[in-house]
Amino acid sequence: MEIHIDLTGTRGHRDAIYRQLRAAILAGRIRPGEALPPTRELAQRLAVSRTTVSAAYDRLTAEGFLAGRVGAGTFVTASPAEHPSPAPDGAGVRPLPEWDAVPPPPAPFAPAPEFDFRPGVPDLSRFPFDTWRRLVTQRLRVGQADLMTYGDPQGHAALRAEIARHAGISRDVRASAAQVVVTAGAQQTTDLVARVLLRAGDLAAVEDPGYPPPRLVLGARGVRVAPVPVDESGIVVDAIPAGTRLVYVTPSHQYPLGLPMSLDRRLELLDWAERNDAVLVEDDYDTEFRYTGRPLEPLHSLDSRGRVVYVGSFSKVLSPALRLGFLIAPPSLVPALVKARYLTDWHAPNVEQAALAAFMAEGGFARHVRRMRKVYRARHEILSRSLASFGDFLTPLPSSAGLHLSAVAATDCGGLVRAARRHGVRLYSLADFGVGERRHGLVFGYGAVATERIEPGLARLRALADEGAA
Ligand SMILES: Cc1ncc(COP(=O)(O)O)c(C=O)c1O
Repeated sequence: MEIHIDLTGTRGHRDAIYRQLRAAILAGRIRPGEALPPTRELAQRLAVSRTTVSAAYDRLTAEGFLAGRVGAGTFVTASPAEHPSPAPDGAGVRPLPEWDAVPPPPAPFAPAPEFDFRPGVPDLSRFPFDTWRRLVTQRLRVGQADLMTYGDPQGHAALRAEIARHAGISRDVRASAAQVVVTAGAQQTTDLVARVLLRAGDLAAVEDPGYPPPRLVLGARGVRVAPVPVDESGIVVDAIPAGTRLVYVTPSHQYPLGLPMSLDRRLELLDWAERNDAVLVEDDYDTEFRYTGRPLEPLHSLDSRGRVVYVGSFSKVLSPALRLGFLIAPPSLVPALVKARYLTDWHAPNVEQAALAAFMAEGGFARHVRRMRKVYRARHEILSRSLASFGDFLTPLPSSAGLHLSAVAATDCGGLVRAARRHGVRLYSLADFGVGERRHGLVFGYGAVATERIEPGLARLRALADEGAA
């Protein structure tokens, strides 16, 4: 193992070697079981005497960090947990207060409950593993070295072309590949757009109830965020405060209510944006899955002035772990957005982008969407039907797309949600998505729950509701 030890400017070489090795072990940079270089070799490399290195090793051995095995060498024994070293608390260094308002990220890999109705996740057991493995492997062959260097911050050209084609066919979003920027998912779009359009103190508006991350992203950048109520036609345009520079909306499938924004409201919002010199961010996160009726035209297609940034994600169609999404922006914004992407994290991983481009080009992506639409349509039907058995307690909101549906209730559902979680049913309260007016109700995702588990899960929930857990 090539351990980096720096003796420049140090006088006590033995102490310096001891301290640096100890710090590396405590930080987990050298792990239990790993062998240290023989004393002779390290002494030569550092141009010190072998006795100096042996003395440092002896001290670490005496303290329990190392153990020698005759004929085999010297090994690390201790894990950092056994030798906790208090990290300096950094009390004098504080993040900006904006960050205090941002909740901690959700815990990854929490074990799945028996009945998982969380919204926003697809059925990952049906991810096209074999095809994806083939496509990635093909791109990891010698001769594909160009994929291993820095890529285009705007996104892999073949993928941008496929995205422009896909958005045109499936959503009637007319745009060229030059208007597409590949992102690390929809969430990054709000950040990139805010970077190029908003200063700290500027005003932006989000739907209330709404998807929390965009509100938090904007708030963490020091942007003032106005939650604007949503009625059965969509965001209430009259309630958007004067001076708002950016409005984030989910017109196809309002998150979390599930209702589409009416055509009149779309036109009113576009007109408002034009009169108020504002930009609209249209998050079209899950409309690949539509079960009945024809989708309304996206804001992007209705927009004749170029005020809409259209946002798509591969998180719902494929997997959120890919961290791949895209935005389609007016040409006036593209160069700045590309620079923002470059300065933030340079670009999305090349191999995955190229694999996705090939998946789309060979038709696998469209087939996967069709297959999954059938699966989710069946779940949507079962869920809608079964919710009727809750009688007056729950009124499902009309929904014809996506991976979740919401139902309103006459009373607060927080107690029921907590009781349900204790009994293996994970779901969310509508109130969790509200900022101002908190609506009573429940949000049911059906991406993660297997089709045959929907009815038993709801039966358990109903029993808890009947017991008065609400
Ligand atoms: C409204 C909305 N937009 C976007 C996303 C997807 O975000 P990302 O592409 O960052 O994974 C989600 C996921 O839950 C969502 O609910």
